Amino acid sequence: MSTTSAPEGAVQAIEEGLARLGTSFRDAFASAPTEQALRLEYAKVLGKKGDLTAVLALMRNVAPAERPRAGAAVNAFREQVESAFAARLHAITRAVRDAELNARPYDLSLPGRTELGRGHAHPIHQVRDELLGIFRELGFAIAEGPEVELEENNFTKLNFPPDHPATDMQDSFWLASAEGARVLLRTHTSNMQVREMSTHAPPLAVVSAGRVFRRDDDLTHSPMFHQIEGFLVDEGVSLADLRGVLTAFVERLYGPGTPVRFRPSFFPFVEPGVEVDVGCVFCRKADGSYAGCRVCKQSGWLEVLGAGMIHPEVFRHCDIDSEKYTGFAFGMGIDRVAMLKYGVPNIRLMFESDPRFLSQF
Ligand code: DAH
Repeated sequence: MSTTSAPEGAVQAIEEGLARLGTSFRDAFASAPTEQALRLEYAKVLGKKGDLTAVLALMRNVAPAERPRAGAAVNAFREQVESAFAARLHAITRAVRDAELNARPYDLSLPGRTELGRGHAHPIHQVRDELLGIFRELGFAIAEGPEVELEENNFTKLNFPPDHPATDMQDSFWLASAEGARVLLRTHTSNMQVREMSTHAPPLAVVSAGRVFRRDDDLTHSPMFHQIEGFLVDEGVSLADLRGVLTAFVERLYGPGTPVRFRPSFFPFVEPGVEVDVGCVFCRKADGSYAGCRVCKQSGWLEVLGAGMIHPEVFRHCDIDSEKYTGFAFGMGIDRVAMLKYGVPNIRLMFESDPRFLSQF
């Protein structure tokens, strides 16, 4: 028995073992469909209980002088496996990423998101539509007008004297004048009287609602707020008609039996002019008496609008014969009606567009 044959045979055994393992791992790797399957195949070759471990067990029979040769063969094999594994792993990860990129960005099978809910009209708009709806029922037509207005429609033709404080820079938002025309953000919806009466012949019954602007800013005043304007022009219209229409309106808005009170007042475009109060909707009792409360300041009355008989000067500016026709007009803040209706103490809440506030209506 040769003393060198055993070690010589041991190296051969290793080389044969490696040859037996051959390149079948390549096919196994290539057909592994997922990273997990690939790692399993890898473990079958290079894992602790893998094929190579069995071959390495033969290493202890190898003479020290032959070990480098055997080791080199093993390392070469190991490197082939490692690089085939790395290449396949790269291909698989890439295929997965490509599939993700090409997939639809959404999953049609997911349940819908219901937490967004449905929107609804702003509380001011809800109240505006309610007010307009009542006047429409009473036979009024609805008109719309611009927020940027000529001085003459907002002031002059409504009989404001040129030096009236409302026309002051401190009170109104004036815009850069165009071609000599003085232009501002309308300070009230009364401009609609001029616009409608200048373009339509009586009889007329019109309401119009929209935004108006003044240099005002505190708890109950916002530089932008909302008004509704109404007027009626025909032969023989009197203050009694105004009272009748406003009573019908207030009863529809606040319930039957709600009383209306006129107090003398002044607005340049009406004569006579009145402030109109309604019985306090918060402390009115079933028998018609009033307990008195914070909202009406213990008076039992809420001030809700300005009104009056259209001034002959206004008719003249609109080419309407004031000998033949008379008419009444009224103007009301919508925001205050909404604040009273919903008990909102600060007008700014209405315009901050905070969904936590708006979702309560
Ligand atoms: N335009 C007035 C204001 O903004 C409100 C008003 C008062 C309108 C009397 C009218 C009216 O039509 O007759 O304060």
